[in-house]
Amino acid sequence: MIKIPVIKAVCVSLVLAGIALAPSAEASPTRVPTATTSVSCLPTPHPVTTEQTLALFELAARKIGAVRTTGAKRYPFGALHSSPDYAYTGATGWTSGFFAAELWLLYQRTQDPRWLEAARAQTRGLMKLATYTGSHDLGFMVGLPTGLGATLDPSPEQQAAYAEARITAARTLSQRWNPRIRALKSSEYGGKWGLIIDSAMNAPLLIEVGQAIGGPEGDELVYRGTEHMLTLARDFVRPDGSTFHRMAFNPKTGALIGPIPGQGLTGDSTWARGQAWALNGFTRAYELTGNAELLDAAQKTAAFWVSKVPPGCIPAWDFDIDNSRAPRDSSAASIAADGLLNFRRVVGDTAADHGAYADVTLGLLTTPWMTTARSVNPGILLQQTLNVPSDPREGSYVWGDYYLLRALSAD
Ligand code: GLY
Repeated sequence: MIKIPVIKAVCVSLVLAGIALAPSAEASPTRVPTATTSVSCLPTPHPVTTEQTLALFELAARKIGAVRTTGAKRYPFGALHSSPDYAYTGATGWTSGFFAAELWLLYQRTQDPRWLEAARAQTRGLMKLATYTGSHDLGFMVGLPTGLGATLDPSPEQQAAYAEARITAARTLSQRWNPRIRALKSSEYGGKWGLIIDSAMNAPLLIEVGQAIGGPEGDELVYRGTEHMLTLARDFVRPDGSTFHRMAFNPKTGALIGPIPGQGLTGDSTWARGQAWALNGFTRAYELTGNAELLDAAQKTAAFWVSKVPPGCIPAWDFDIDNSRAPRDSSAASIAADGLLNFRRVVGDTAADHGAYADVTLGLLTTPWMTTARSVNPGILLQQTLNVPSDPREGSYVWGDYYLLRALSAD
């Protein structure tokens, strides 16, 4: 059973004063200030229904089908709340793989050859990035769409090409290895050798590929990917399960220097999306390795999430925010829901019942108020934020959309 904390009463009383826009009798879960921060919540938390899932995929097909791309040149990124147009990036942007991955999920669901053709076209340009050394996000950019393509594309030749691109991308990513820090370099932060919690989603590519190819090279890839995740578990996860966002290290000695501010409120705060990346990535890494320390990290980061975000709610963009009008981040909730569903699959039903909690999160994320069902926005999920310290405006972004579709596709 999911315990509904006191906040439920707050949600209900405030939203009942709002305007009901949904076809159901439920009141609109618009911004709900709690004592110190802001969230969006379902007035009556409930698991996602089959009808909601169907409606969400219909919306996704309508919105995604209307987006114009030209293969390798245009990669949808996101759109501010009421903007009718996507902003795009080139292939080397960290988000370039998510739209292709959304296309693969639509193909998986419908088996419609038009989605296959579109997914192939969008993935083709990304495969060329497999040798790109300028990003630590090759797992997102190449690993995601080629991983889906290798499983879903009916052509054995295409499958082989995707598998080859994944091997090359893993080799490229592994060049970032520092044996003293026992991690893959993310970037320079504050002019120093830096690691970011988001890398929990990218390092598993090395483990996946290493396990697939085997031999001494495969073993080395598995070793590097696993050690990277263990370094994150050791240096980013606090005793209460919350996480740091970015850390600097001394690349000569391997010594940890300390936190560097990034997309969170401060260097020491807990950025909501970072927490979601952590719980999702640690769960996947545990699934791949069976490593007990990674299971512990997955359990702690997941437990922190569910202790801070009431069931059927999305959080403000940072868990340490003290502002009842703070921007929210529904993408953190969709990434967390996907990770928690995988946690249920991998770890099994536990007392915490993270899967049931995730189903209730999806009950919120698929309500028409949370989506672009009544909006000109070209994306799917609203109330996402990118980088609040730079721009507090909410919008719809491809990573939040992808993880929502993925969570709804989970078996
Ligand atoms: N990986 C960058 C972000 O989550 O914004």
